[in-house]
Amino acid sequence: MLSFSADEIFRIGMEIELNGKAFYETAAALCKESSAKEVLEYLRDAEQQHYDAFSAMRDALPAAAKSETVFDPDGEAAMYLKALADSRIFTDMKQAVALAKKCKAPADVFEVALRFEKDSVVLFETMKQGTKPEWGQDKINFLIDAEKEHVVRIFGALQKAKAKAKK
Ligand SMILES: [Fe+2]
Ligand SMILES: [Fe+2]
Repeated sequence: MLSFSADEIFRIGMEIELNGKAFYETAAALCKESSAKEVLEYLRDAEQQHYDAFSAMRDALPAAAKSETVFDPDGEAAMYLKALADSRIFTDMKQAVALAKKCKAPADVFEVALRFEKDSVVLFETMKQGTKPEWGQDKINFLIDAEKEHVVRIFGALQKAKAKAKK
């Protein structure tokens, strides 16, 4: 049986951000191209801030919200969230770091990053449905917008990296 509490939802959020940060941190450290490195460092710092935001939301949850189940355990929403969470590109930090190390060129890094950010948007949208306004729903909206901005930024960087590679 599936059960998600707000506490669990924010814990998943923290995990996603931490994995993203680990990916960008590793990729930035290995990147030799200065404009790509700059983008990766920006993203690394942004995911750290998002991690802190989820962590603060989790700490601020009222005690009752920690155990209260937010989705019907047999319902579509809970199964959908589980499927999204389990199929995301990095399910742990080790995997995120390993994937960053496997990338040969900035374009490879940005391809992975794009998938990660799109995963994050869809996951956060779904997670938001399991939270209440008084649990910081507006902050999740802010995080969704931030990940969308990352998608745009990464897409631009990917186009640039691909054009450079062709030269
Ligand atoms: Fe993030
Ligand atoms: Fe992001």
